[in-house]
Amino acid sequence: MIELNAATKQYGSLTAVDNVSFSVKTGEYFALLGPNGAGKTTIVKMLLDFARPTSGSLSINGLSSALAACRTAVGCLGENHHIPPYLSGWQYLQRCAQLLDMGRSDAIDQCRRIVELIGMQGREHTKVNTYSKGMVQRFGLGAALIGKPKLLILDEPTSGLDPIGIREIRLLLESLKHQGMTIFLNSHMLSEVEKICDTVAIIHRGRLLVKDAISAILKDGDTLEDVFVRLVKG
Ligand SMILES: Nc1ncnc2c1ncn2[C@@H]1O[C@H](COP(=O)(O)OP(=O)(O)OP(=O)(O)O)[C@@H](O)[C@H]1O
Ligand SMILES: [Mg+2]
Repeated sequence: MIELNAATKQYGSLTAVDNVSFSVKTGEYFALLGPNGAGKTTIVKMLLDFARPTSGSLSINGLSSALAACRTAVGCLGENHHIPPYLSGWQYLQRCAQLLDMGRSDAIDQCRRIVELIGMQGREHTKVNTYSKGMVQRFGLGAALIGKPKLLILDEPTSGLDPIGIREIRLLLESLKHQGMTIFLNSHMLSEVEKICDTVAIIHRGRLLVKDAISAILKDGDTLEDVFVRLVKG
């Protein structure tokens, strides 16, 4: 579903992503890991066409990431995403639905279903500036689910959440797996990644260090943290 082919992104003299190639299959839960500044968000930006590769290519569903058509069935949650504080969570979801050009009654039905899925019934009509970080994150994830995407691209979906919020997001993502969702996520939450992902890639200074099934990476009884530290500290 996702393919990176020698993807490279340079910002002036800095190579943020350096000749990275890998693929993610349909139905896979994939985590891109790496220390701060490794290039994870840059890869997400290129998949979403917020940044263009300097060389190499990225594709979704066989179409270049430069073509908007590759993202017709893609939901995304960006890093440090923000919801206008003067909206309620419900208004935010409705505005996102309007951007997808869906009919009013379909939008209302979908947003009701999503409010239930993210566990925000009863809070959806209060203003976002009264929400905790966890609630904002849940509405962000909810917005990514509008339009029934087949692929979710999530940049640190549990960022800033407490342990209960982290668990809730995990349970939500697990429930989507049964519906055939594909997930590409960036995360620093290695224990969460161990629990829900099938495959991980670790990048450091823009370079791919490893990409493998989590079962293969953990086969010697190591934790993902052990493997991560060993590879990154080199
Ligand atoms: N617009 C930009 N202009 C110049 N340099 C940039 C730009 N965006 C990112 N960078 C640099 O590219 C490198 C990779 O950044 P990126 O945001 O992709 O890292 P990351 O792996 O997502 O890190 P984090 O875990 O902190 O979110 C960093 O050195 C960063 O400073
Ligand atoms: Mg990032």
